[in-house]
Amino acid sequence: MNQSTNSTMKRWTVARPGAQHLMLEQVPVPTPGEHEVLVRVDAVSLNYRDIGVIEGKELSAEMPFPITPGSDLAGHVVSTGSRVTRFREADTVLGTFWAGWIDGDWPAHARVLGGSLPGVLAQYVVLHEDWLVRAPRSLDAAQASTLPCAGLTAWFALVEQGGLHAGQTVLVQGTGGVALFGLQLARAHGAQVIVTSGSEDKRRRVLELGASHVIDRTVDVPWDVQVREYTGGRGVDHIFELVGGENLGASLRAIRQGGRISLIGVLGEYAMTFPSVPSFLTRPVIQGIGVGHRRALEALVRAVDAVALQPVIDASYDFDRVPEAFEHLKRGAFGKIVVKVS
Ligand SMILES: NC(=O)c1ccc[n+]([C@@H]2O[C@H](COP(=O)([O-])OP(=O)(O)OC[C@H]3O[C@@H](n4cnc5c(N)ncnc54)[C@H](OP(=O)(O)O)[C@@H]3O)[C@@H](O)[C@H]2O)c1
Repeated sequence: MNQSTNSTMKRWTVARPGAQHLMLEQVPVPTPGEHEVLVRVDAVSLNYRDIGVIEGKELSAEMPFPITPGSDLAGHVVSTGSRVTRFREADTVLGTFWAGWIDGDWPAHARVLGGSLPGVLAQYVVLHEDWLVRAPRSLDAAQASTLPCAGLTAWFALVEQGGLHAGQTVLVQGTGGVALFGLQLARAHGAQVIVTSGSEDKRRRVLELGASHVIDRTVDVPWDVQVREYTGGRGVDHIFELVGGENLGASLRAIRQGGRISLIGVLGEYAMTFPSVPSFLTRPVIQGIGVGHRRALEALVRAVDAVALQPVIDASYDFDRVPEAFEHLKRGAFGKIVVKVS
């Protein structure tokens, strides 16, 4: 039997581009169709991408305003459509970042929640049963909500595509959500981690999380030169390119011969440029990463339970404080910013 719900709920929408236009509205609780699930949202984690969506600058967003932002939820099943087979009432679930990418190659019909489809910053959402996975047993909802985008991106880059193994060295740029998942997953696999950061306090905190070396990216010595010195000239095995622009050139100078650079982020610039000749000799594998598919998220959930990985949450905000949560994200978070919904 399905739990009953109140007939109305609250959800955040942005009427036109700009965080100042975020507003909380009261709308009817949606009803699931045959293959759909009504989910009570317990927590939503925010991503750098969401800022672009609410400012109307995110290239992958296709929804006209007004839109509800947010792609990453943890919640529990309230009721299911008549033909749903994957979930039952009270199951704890995570949404998948991509609606419709189950496994294998990325399908052109896949869409992102909170940009190409309505987002999840709401008390209830209705999602197709294929767009959900079981939540990890070992995490609460706030922690679990960090996995669908930031966690999966790091997992896809290092494990699903990257063949990470013990003894390797991984470099991550900055101390945001993707970077710290990269740090934690690399450590869990027996790899060493170098972190670049512009903040003295954050550099101290990543050492506590197990980084073997930190680099101040604001000093005059370029960070790739510091990496070469630290690795005895060899370079590192994996790099998360999170900044874009000419920073990719530094990544190509810091990678070891045949190492792997994951093109992930655009914290600095959308375009990426690099000098060609050094890379002819370094022979890097350059892989684009677009978060990842549902099968990999299920693998990540199992791994999180197996190694008791605790995602790093910088701050949690109550549902009525979403604008403050976005301001914090814009200032630069250490790990993740989470909105507690229920
Ligand atoms: N392709 C994909 O699948 C995918 C998936 C997820 C995210 N992304 C992208 O990856 C990037 C990171 O996402 P995120 O959610 O982890 O971001 P985030 O949590 O907002 O990361 C912010 C942190 O990055 C560092 N940072 C900010 N600007 C920087 C700059 N110009 N140069 C170097 N470091 C800078 C700062 O760390 P310090 O203060 O320590 O320096 C800051 O605290 C974003 O561009 C996002 O859109 C892509």
